[in-house]
Amino acid sequence: MTRLTDTVAWRELRDHHARLTAAHLRELFAADPERGRRLAVEAAGIYADYSKHRVTDETLRLLAALARERQVERWRDRMFAGERINTSEDRAARHVALRAATPPREVSDTLARMQDLVDRAHRGELRGAAGEPVRTVVNLGIGGSDLGPRMAARALRAFDAQRVRTRFVANVDPADLDATLADLDPRTTCFVVTSKTFTTAETLDNARRARAWLERTLGRPPDLMASFIAVTASPAAARAWGVAEDRIFPLWDWVGGRYSLWSAVGLPIALAAGMHAFERLLGGARAMDEHFRTAPLESNLPVILGLLGIWYRDFFGAQTHAVLPYAEDLRDLPAYLQQLEMESNGKRVDRDGRPLDCATAPVIWGAAGTGGQHAFHQLLHQGTLLAPCDFIVPARSAPGADAEAHRLLVANALAQSAALAFGEDRPEAPHRHQPGNQPSTTIVLPRLDPHSLGALLALYEHKVFVQGVIWGVNSFDQWGVELGKTMAKMLAPALERGADPAIDGSTRALLARIRAAGDPD
Ligand code: F6P
Repeated sequence: MTRLTDTVAWRELRDHHARLTAAHLRELFAADPERGRRLAVEAAGIYADYSKHRVTDETLRLLAALARERQVERWRDRMFAGERINTSEDRAARHVALRAATPPREVSDTLARMQDLVDRAHRGELRGAAGEPVRTVVNLGIGGSDLGPRMAARALRAFDAQRVRTRFVANVDPADLDATLADLDPRTTCFVVTSKTFTTAETLDNARRARAWLERTLGRPPDLMASFIAVTASPAAARAWGVAEDRIFPLWDWVGGRYSLWSAVGLPIALAAGMHAFERLLGGARAMDEHFRTAPLESNLPVILGLLGIWYRDFFGAQTHAVLPYAEDLRDLPAYLQQLEMESNGKRVDRDGRPLDCATAPVIWGAAGTGGQHAFHQLLHQGTLLAPCDFIVPARSAPGADAEAHRLLVANALAQSAALAFGEDRPEAPHRHQPGNQPSTTIVLPRLDPHSLGALLALYEHKVFVQGVIWGVNSFDQWGVELGKTMAKMLAPALERGADPAIDGSTRALLARIRAAGDPD
């Protein structure tokens, strides 16, 4: 395959960029007052305004040509067909099958089992080790086994069925579990051990400590494991750990961890908001899948967002991309997207292992508005960094929320994106001068509900996919995380016993220093 930078579209984009690089959004709007209405797409109920980007119609035409030349449509169809596109792990990437109108049998069976469990929990019939109804479910998982359900359960707070409280513990630092358990009643608490591999050190350590907490507080009840549920693609490992067969929910090797919240990994979401809400979440994602699968590249929202990301990353050299949800309940979205984008496309070789000739995923960061305005927005307005932003704005307030406060929130989002784009000329006062020309997309959800959340998350999944295809990387593996895991396993005993591992001089000196100052054995 032709290298990315040798493609016709890439070379044309490079020339085009040289001509456009100095253009200011003020000029682009002056030349085309209609672009605010024109450069917008509606998909699966989501409206996205991408007019505040440093693009012309010619840019968009060339970017679409790039997507075509890199065969985005063919790769998309291969993904939907369930082909083994995750080549380095020889697996398919079939997360879209989890929300298909007619899902595979194993998926529908699992959804039925989830429905049964959620119904029992909501009726007070799900009992833990002490024989009392479960009132709190603590998810023990990390990465994709934590970030998705944690983010979505919080995002759907307004739809909470108020039957079962959910908590999330990820960090191997015992402070995480200890703080979570501090106000929980062990008689009514149940743990969901979520781990695709069931080998992840942090999760298994937290599960072991949760079990010890139950033993300590409940006095070794005969059926301790009644307080545990497992979600895993390694049911044998969960069984060996002691989880009862009927409490093990399956996952499959064709679902990547960071793409798994649509599976039983989403159990905490369903326990919190109800199975109906979970089905609507799947429905929203399905609507976006349908759009991605069928819309022409030029009006395909995930394709447009993916291409705009590449435009800034590879042609303007932008190092970061900010995600700014104007909804407190979406406050965990940036962290979720960090894994989705950076673990998927933080790669330096192509699918065949050849070094890339382009820059890949930027640093994803962000925070819920309006807090960030009083912290890092100064840098966006007057700093030296080009930082494209996504503003995510629910048009309507959550059911029962204060509509006036919501209007203020939305006004702030619109004010920020406009101020960033157009700035304010103050030639007489350079400290006050705001240059503008900071690009952003404004993504408007009808409101933050299960359907729009599902569509939003699928939008980002497909955006990441499109970028991965264009860069030529495998977006579905994550080999880069392995070395650190192996080294941590080697260093833990060295900290404990003071052994002298074969390691670099800096780490050896740090080990000695920390051991000298550390906990007594
Ligand atoms: O270390 C990275 C990772 O493998 C992620 O890709 C994954 O989401 C996370 O760890 C948790 O893995 P598991 O679900 O197997 O515990």
